[in-house]
Amino acid sequence: MKVLVTGGAGFIGSNFVRYMLETYPDAEVVNVDALTYAGNLENLAGLEDDKRYTFVRGDISRMEDVRGVFDQHRFDAILNFAAESHVDRSLHFGAEAFIQTNVLGTQLLLDLTRQHEVPRYVQISTDEVYGSLGDDGRFTEETPIAPNNPYSATKAGADFLVRAAAHSHGLDAVITRCSNNYGPYQFPEKLIPLMIANALEDKPLPVYGDGMHVRDWIFVRDHCSAIDAVLRKGRTGEAYNIGGMYDVPNIEIVKLILKHLEKPESLITYVKDRPGHDRRYAMDNTKIRAELGWEPAYTFEQGLKETINWYLANGPWLEHVRSGQYRQYYETLYAGR
Ligand code: NAD
Ligand code: TYD
Repeated sequence: MKVLVTGGAGFIGSNFVRYMLETYPDAEVVNVDALTYAGNLENLAGLEDDKRYTFVRGDISRMEDVRGVFDQHRFDAILNFAAESHVDRSLHFGAEAFIQTNVLGTQLLLDLTRQHEVPRYVQISTDEVYGSLGDDGRFTEETPIAPNNPYSATKAGADFLVRAAAHSHGLDAVITRCSNNYGPYQFPEKLIPLMIANALEDKPLPVYGDGMHVRDWIFVRDHCSAIDAVLRKGRTGEAYNIGGMYDVPNIEIVKLILKHLEKPESLITYVKDRPGHDRRYAMDNTKIRAELGWEPAYTFEQGLKETINWYLANGPWLEHVRSGQYRQYYETLYAGR
């Protein structure tokens, strides 16, 4: 099977590229990535000499960057991971880059998929398109789409474009909507790697608001196996929720990280809340389990241990991604909060 992975130099995309090449000896992967601040070729270190793997630097929202890739290869499937993915950036720096990549980039890929008659298109989406939950209940695939921030609004826009391409043009497209991921190679702007990185340096851990916002955590490799199941067996035009069924308040996650690293809870610092901060996400993953037979393989305890050990063993990776622009970003976003 030959697949196009977009955004394969990012966190989940790079884990997926590795997953495919490790799991299937006959897999071929072409990775198109623009290498934004979140794209890092170090995430793919060791694959340079693998003949089954090709990297192309390109922006999915620029026809001149992507057309040639479709002309050169006959793909069995397109998997679109490329996105601007951080809520705080979409709130702080504006939505433009999010609209460009998440909306326009998705439509361009859909058009090329159709023109080249690629038999399958998989859109990697998020639970955030459903908005926020109250104190109980879980998101199902029937929950109305109701995004609350610019990031999730653009991901929802992309989902609708995928739905429209399937409905209007008969494109064989499927959507995966996953909950919060954690694991190796995650950029330390997101909760878990940011807290690990700060704790390792005995820096304050900035918890937004009262710390009681709930996210449903899944280890990235479980997300990859779920995407693979949808790629191979998902029904055309369907969306599949993916989640680890581990939904807990942020403060609990932060305390667990401190416990693992044997650092004091006095590092926890409550800071000004994110505007419009979604209170609770929790996924109902019944459909993918019942229809496709997928099950997560990691408990949160196992996944977190593996993640922390990975960050401990990969100090240079962390140092590189935290140098330069990251420092500036951190100052801009957290100073005065
Ligand atoms: P990430 O920010 O780590 O990586 C995004 C990658 O996309 C980067 O390599 C970046 O260089 C690339 N990219 C950005 N704009 C591009 C463009 N115009 N053209 C080509 N490449 C571009 O993101 P991630 O956390 O790995 O998320 C991957 C996908 O999974 C996203 O679509 C995201 O919405 C979705 N998702 C993420 C999570 C999560 O918890 N991280 C949960 C559910 C869904
Ligand atoms: P994040 O990792 O940004 O993912 P998302 O906003 O897409 O769910 O944040 C996860 C949760 O952690 C969210 O409720 C916001 C919170 N959070 C903090 O409390 N402090 C932080 O420094 C960050 C980055 C997030």
